[in-house]
Amino acid sequence: MGPGPILLLGAQGQLGATLRDYLSPWGAPLAWGRAEADLAEPGRLREKLEALPFVPAAIVNAAAYTKVDRAESERDICFKTNAESPAVLARHARDRGILFVSYSTDYVYGGGGAAPWSEGDGEAPLNVYGESKLAGDRAVLAIGGKILLLRTSWVYSPLGNNFARTVLKLAEEKDSLSMDRTQVGVPTPTSLLAGVTALVLGRFLGAPRETRGEGPGPWGLYHLAPKGETTWWEFSRFLVGAARAGGLPLRLRPEDIVARDSEDLSRPARRPLNSRLNTRKIEETFGLRLPHWTVGAGKFIEDRLRFAGVAGPRGPF
Ligand SMILES: NC(=O)c1ccc[n+]([C@@H]2O[C@H](COP(=O)([O-])OP(=O)(O)OC[C@H]3O[C@@H](n4cnc5c(N)ncnc54)[C@H](OP(=O)(O)O)[C@@H]3O)[C@@H](O)[C@H]2O)c1
Repeated sequence: MGPGPILLLGAQGQLGATLRDYLSPWGAPLAWGRAEADLAEPGRLREKLEALPFVPAAIVNAAAYTKVDRAESERDICFKTNAESPAVLARHARDRGILFVSYSTDYVYGGGGAAPWSEGDGEAPLNVYGESKLAGDRAVLAIGGKILLLRTSWVYSPLGNNFARTVLKLAEEKDSLSMDRTQVGVPTPTSLLAGVTALVLGRFLGAPRETRGEGPGPWGLYHLAPKGETTWWEFSRFLVGAARAGGLPLRLRPEDIVARDSEDLSRPARRPLNSRLNTRKIEETFGLRLPHWTVGAGKFIEDRLRFAGVAGPRGPF
């Protein structure tokens, strides 16, 4: 069996879509969405993997059940998708000696105190989504092999459902908004996650075949998020302020966004108050210097302005 392309799951999610670009130096990945492989059916997933006519160069799993509130009433599907299927993928990768990359969340932590969490410190999820991701993390780490598990927080991108896009949409429509300032975390663009994934893949796939993954290697669990910290309230004010300064016609001004102090108890799932992640391990292991969160958020607004045609270099058309 010859070597195949990288297998990418969750290819239509916000991270998956970004990964399709960042993985392209190794050829087009075999991109599976829900239609190609339903992770709520781990047995079918195993069959599908075993039927592949090649060994993938690596497996990258960006699929996840991410509907945090709905997970409270869909525990079984959530656990199958976030815990059982990742274990199937990890086993397939380990048994073939290939790299497995997967992603996890700040929601595995209990959210107490104000200190950044270190990897594996104080895992005590407050909701079903967090429980399912933690079960998946523990399962894939126990399976072992060449695993890179990146735990991140507050993910956003120019595509998909995320807070940053929602804020800009609301800012077009509304004169006032209230945002939570009790939860503290770090907004993470998918480009940072995909960029670091590509960097690690490059080191692994670029190594001479006989030394790939030999020795202890850098495998295991890492936190990955930008530097600094913020609240949903501050993040929304930053986005609206930068967009207006760039010329995007928004009804809402940053000063129209009022801070809400209490947790939204009307939502089915509780959220952690402290989502700060200590990223020293990944920086030291891979020689990274992670940017402040405002760098990615500023770029997000720049791209939005270009897309809206109100700023940026003029293209040929
Ligand atoms: N979003 C965040 O704020 C955040 C924060 C921390 C960590 N993470 C982690 O980051 C990773 C990427 O998340 P994301 O933000 O890119 O999420 P996303 O945009 O919701 O994408 C998840 C993808 O998984 C797919 N999926 C869900 N259930 C599936 C199933 N049963 N079978 C096959 N595919 C299925 C979804 O397809 P459908 O669209 O059809 O449902 C979607 O394409 C995940 O591991 C997530 O836990 C995310």
